[in-house]
Amino acid sequence: ARTAAVIPAAGRGVRLGPGVPKALRTLGGTPMLIHAVRAMADSRAVSLVVVVAPPDGAAEVKSLLDAHALPDRTDFLVVPGGGTRQESVRLGLDALPPGYDIVLVHDAARPLVPVDTVDAVIGAVRDGAPAVVPALPLADTVKQVEPAAGPGEPESVVATPDRSLLRAVQTPQGFDRATLERAHRTVKDNVTDDASMVEQLGRTVVTVPGHEEAFKVTRPLDLILAEAVLARRRL
Ligand code: C5P
Repeated sequence: ARTAAVIPAAGRGVRLGPGVPKALRTLGGTPMLIHAVRAMADSRAVSLVVVVAPPDGAAEVKSLLDAHALPDRTDFLVVPGGGTRQESVRLGLDALPPGYDIVLVHDAARPLVPVDTVDAVIGAVRDGAPAVVPALPLADTVKQVEPAAGPGEPESVVATPDRSLLRAVQTPQGFDRATLERAHRTVKDNVTDDASMVEQLGRTVVTVPGHEEAFKVTRPLDLILAEAVLARRRL
């Protein structure tokens, strides 16, 4: 079974502060998106990478890919994205040629995921799981809250879920292609990851160990951390 990776990279990244779209921010002088593309193409199992660009930025992303050295054994496609992550992923799936039976979905915002994590996800799909997520235990205790009744009112805690049963999940998430396509046809809620759509179909989602370097670059501090991880790798 051949494996393709879809990289949604159409987000604005407003939480990172003003500036260019997040995926085009540089880390160690190279756009975050290029790091993410290489992280997928580094896996020998991945033979196609579909990048979902900002709706008006497909040409720019295409020339960006052309300007950076990428493995010859991998094919690349660029398609314009949509208004939500979910829509962007669906547009990426629509562009997949036949013959790719395993699909990874990887956030451009996780540029430093190690290849061993990518391969572990693919391996678990090959072993028969319809959906696979890299997952890590939580360092923080998590509270469920009741939103504040109004401005100036406090929000209040309603529950403390057992932390040992919670996981923070990362990408790439891996899927049997038919399952993921059915999930995207069926589930219309606005979800934040693809595995939750498969859960809504009633299919089993399994975890593999995540990696701390697969963290999502969301806020300004994450950029500092990402630069430090890259600098350490280059030693
Ligand atoms: O906003 P968030 O960090 O959850 O975005 C996760 C990924 O989804 C990012 O790589 C972002 O570029 C992508 N995205 C997208 N299309 C959107 C919104 C987000 O491809 N409309």
